[in-house]
Formats: sequence, C-alpha cells, structure tokens
Amino acid sequence: MWAGLPTGGSPATPSATGAPRPPPTCRAPSRTQPHQAACGAPADGFYNASTVAHDRRWQLPLPDAATTRDHLEASLADTLALLQTAAEDDDGLYFFRLALFHEDMHAEAAVCMAQTLGLDAGEILDAPEQRGAPGPQAATVPATQWALGHEGPGFAFDNERSAHTVPVPAFEIDTEAVRWARFLPFVEQGGYRERAFWSEDGWRWLAQTGTSVPRHLRHSAKGWQQQRWGNWQPLDAQAAACHLTAFEAEAWCAWAGRRLPTEAEWECAAHTAPDWSWGEVWEWTASVSAPIPGFVVHPYVDYSQPWFDGLPVLRGASAATVPRMRHLKYRNYFTPERNDVMASFRSAAILA
Ligand SMILES: [Fe+2]
Repeated sequence: MWAGLPTGGSPATPSATGAPRPPPTCRAPSRTQPHQAACGAPADGFYNASTVAHDRRWQLPLPDAATTRDHLEASLADTLALLQTAAEDDDGLYFFRLALFHEDMHAEAAVCMAQTLGLDAGEILDAPEQRGAPGPQAATVPATQWALGHEGPGFAFDNERSAHTVPVPAFEIDTEAVRWARFLPFVEQGGYRERAFWSEDGWRWLAQTGTSVPRHLRHSAKGWQQQRWGNWQPLDAQAAACHLTAFEAEAWCAWAGRRLPTEAEWECAAHTAPDWSWGEVWEWTASVSAPIPGFVVHPYVDYSQPWFDGLPVLRGASAATVPRMRHLKYRNYFTPERNDVMASFRSAAILA
C-alpha cells in the first residue's frame, strides 16, 4: 500500500534448521550525502516518509523542480554505477529491487492522485483490454490445503513471507471483478440508503461523507456518467467497477447474497481456476492484514509491520500497476474508506 512502502528482497525462506533467514543488510557504500546537499538540505528531512508527517509536507522549503530533477538524475547515476558491481543474487540485488518497486508504487499513487485531481494521466496507462463475449461468471474450487504466501528465491515483500498452509473449504468465486452492470442495480434500488446492507463502520462512513453513489459517478438524463481524468463521459457498464471503498464492496455483497473472498480463497482460485481474469482493479478481500507465521521484518521496517492492525487486504493489481509489480501473491492493504485507489472487488460464496 502507499501508506506503507515496499520492503522485501532476500529470501527469508527457512534455513536447513527451519529458522527464517535474517533480513538482508545494506553493503553498499553511502553515496547519498553529496546529493542530499545538492537538494539544499538533508533530503531525509524532506522525504523520509516515516518521520515527516503528511500535514507538514506542504510547508517544507522543498527545492525547486530543476534542483529536484538534478538530484534524481545524480542519484540514478550513482545507483546504476553501484549496480554494475553488485552481486547478481537475491542478496546483492535486494536494495536495488527495493528502490525500484518503491518507485513503482509511487508511480501508481501518482496516477491515482491525477484521477483525484481531475488531471489527465490516462495516456500513460495501457489501452483497456477489449472485452469479448462474457466468459464464465463463476468458478467452483474444491476444498483444499493452500500454501498462502511466497516461498522460494527472488524478491518478495516481508508481509508475503513465508508460505504457510491453510485449509480452504470448497467455494465458488467470480472469475472477474464485478462489472458496473452488476453493481449499479444495487445503487439504483436504494442500496446506499438501506441500513441493513452496511456494516456499522460502513454506515458511519456513508453518513459522514454523504455518499449516495460511487466516487466519480453521476446519474444524468443520458444515464450513468463517469469522471475520467477530469472529463465526464458515458459509463462503460462492462468495465470493472472501480474507486469503491471496502464498505461499498461489503454492502453490495450483502445485497446480492454474496460475500468477499478471503485472501486464501482469492490466491487459490487465481492459481487454479480456469479463465481467471485479474489486473484491472485492486480487489478488497474479507481478510485483514496480519503477519504470516514466521514473519521476519525486513529493513524497511515501516512497510508492513506498523499496518498489521486489521486493515483489509487487497489482492490483484490495477490498470495503473507497473507490469513488473504484478503477481498473484502480492498482499496490498489500505484503510477501508479509501476510494481514490483503483480498487473494487469480486464476490464469492461458500458451497453447501
Ligand atoms: Fe515512499
């Protein structure tokens, strides 16, 4: 999530003794000080997200754009020079991958911010996939034992390590994220005014925000419209619903007689169900953030550990997620009222 940022890297896979491997340590020489000075002040005083509060950031005497670009270019040159001599293994590449994925997360956050502000960032996204005839709407997954989480070499964030087996009863799950055509009848039939469909927190959020329709949508004489990159346009009813809070996802499920999948169900189905479609929107699940058994915090200690407090877990990826960040084990998490994120859901049901 962008309230926390990526760590991960060196495999924390169990050693021969069964104990998790220690997290990696930085072996690179410090090369940042000259470029921090080029920013006009210690850069950490501006940019350390762990110590600089959000509400202070607009008041900081930040360097101008040209100075900032110079700093970024110098830092990139330093990084690439170090990469030339780095060991080509998971330990040697750990901090390079960490920095790269961290920047990727901020790139996606910038796209979401542009949508929030009504600025046009759409051209940097891939053209939406042309949808053909509707495929299977649901998949049935038999009861199984599922290895939840990441195991093995390569890069993974600390909150995805290490895999552990969980029982998953038989269930049924949508093969794609819920489309607007499926979500909007809930809105049109008064779902946003019906207490019975909402959790206590969700109902409070509705009251506090005055929300009556999903964010970036409005109903006009011509039908539903959607604000995209600052422009109102007809809503594509076959597009995945998007910019929904976890509260709205839960409420729709209550209305439809469905429920959100757990992350174990989501991950299991994603690997085993045929015709699995994903990657348009992050998907809220019924699971909450918590450490996987054997969790070992990685060097970016604020990535996940401070957020193991019951935030909903999201799975998948969005259209704004950089391709190299997309994989089926990724555990994202946001506070449930966030609807600036390109997030939505798919639904599930327990089989009798
Ligand atoms: Fe960051």
